Amino acid sequence: TSSTPEERFEQIIAADSRVEPRDWMPEAYRKTLIRQISQHAHSEIIGMQPEGNWITRAPSLKRKAILMAKVQDEAGHGLYLYSAAQTLGMPREQMTQDLIDGKAKYSSIFNYPTPTWADMGAIGWLVDGAAICNQVPLCRASYGPYARAMVRICKEESFHQRQGFEILLSLMQGTDAQRRMAQDAVDRWYWPSLMMFGPPDEQSPNSAQSMAWKIKRFSNDELRQRFVSMLVPQAEALGVTLPDPNLRWNAETGRYDMSEIDWTEFFDVLAGRGPMNAERRRARREAHESGAWVREAAAEYARKQALRSER
Ligand code: 3HC
Repeated sequence: TSSTPEERFEQIIAADSRVEPRDWMPEAYRKTLIRQISQHAHSEIIGMQPEGNWITRAPSLKRKAILMAKVQDEAGHGLYLYSAAQTLGMPREQMTQDLIDGKAKYSSIFNYPTPTWADMGAIGWLVDGAAICNQVPLCRASYGPYARAMVRICKEESFHQRQGFEILLSLMQGTDAQRRMAQDAVDRWYWPSLMMFGPPDEQSPNSAQSMAWKIKRFSNDELRQRFVSMLVPQAEALGVTLPDPNLRWNAETGRYDMSEIDWTEFFDVLAGRGPMNAERRRARREAHESGAWVREAAAEYARKQALRSER
């Protein structure tokens, strides 16, 4: 007996296989994917700014070249993800405009300043490290175009994380001033990187449905724990201390005990009251406006090409 579109959708999800753009899908499934994928894309694009701040001031040509490559990768990640969201019927121009108008969310982590070079190490090690913990499971997300974009992105993220670790390691093997700079950056980025995983599970309105649809494979708190377990030995190797005096392994629960995260800070940043929210939006709007001539020239060139091929 032929199954209904709903049954076929449920069979795909139950079989752990992939929903593709042409497949029937519940409107709510489409909507939550557009929500998550567009916000993920916005995060990549805004994420170029904190690091872009140091490209002209990198301490060596090698560091400059690596940082430029990383920021260019983030732009590419944004484009893969905008393309994935477009397969769900969300136009690129609308996503771009929503971000510029301050109507779109992006990861809280990019609303913090990058005052020293050591921030480039802390971002690579902590922010890209957290992104890897969050993105590897997304390679198995039930929506095909999103899962495939993640496979490509995860390959580049591991380079991002390693170069960050390496920046901190060379600082920690340097002068006392360099060691203090590295520890200061870790102190400033540690807690915001834990907030990247989202609110506590019991305050996560999207998790239950996202996990039922196999978009989210592990809960916010579970990935946060996985991230901290990865960080502890790496912090020891670096010689930095993680700024949580209550962080300790609990043999009974098989998890790390940690201090309570400051969720008021998290919700403040989400509400646009973080240190850099206004600046990030201003810079994004300015880049879009000053790039208008490129888009017009490309459109004009495409028009002429089309005329030429018609002859
Ligand atoms: N920053 C901003 N908003 C956040 C957030 C954060 N750190 N954490 C959660 N939120 C928002 C959610 O978007 C949701 O709001 P919405 O319903 O308006 O979208 C609300 O807070 C409640 O959170 P939920 O846990 O219910 O939401 P999700 O189920 O969507 O889980 C998530 C949040 C884990 C971030 C999930 O959306 C996700 O995995 N997204 C894809 C990964 C992503 O966006 N990562 C950004 C990291 S930066 C990055 O990848 C760049 C890298 O190259 C460094």
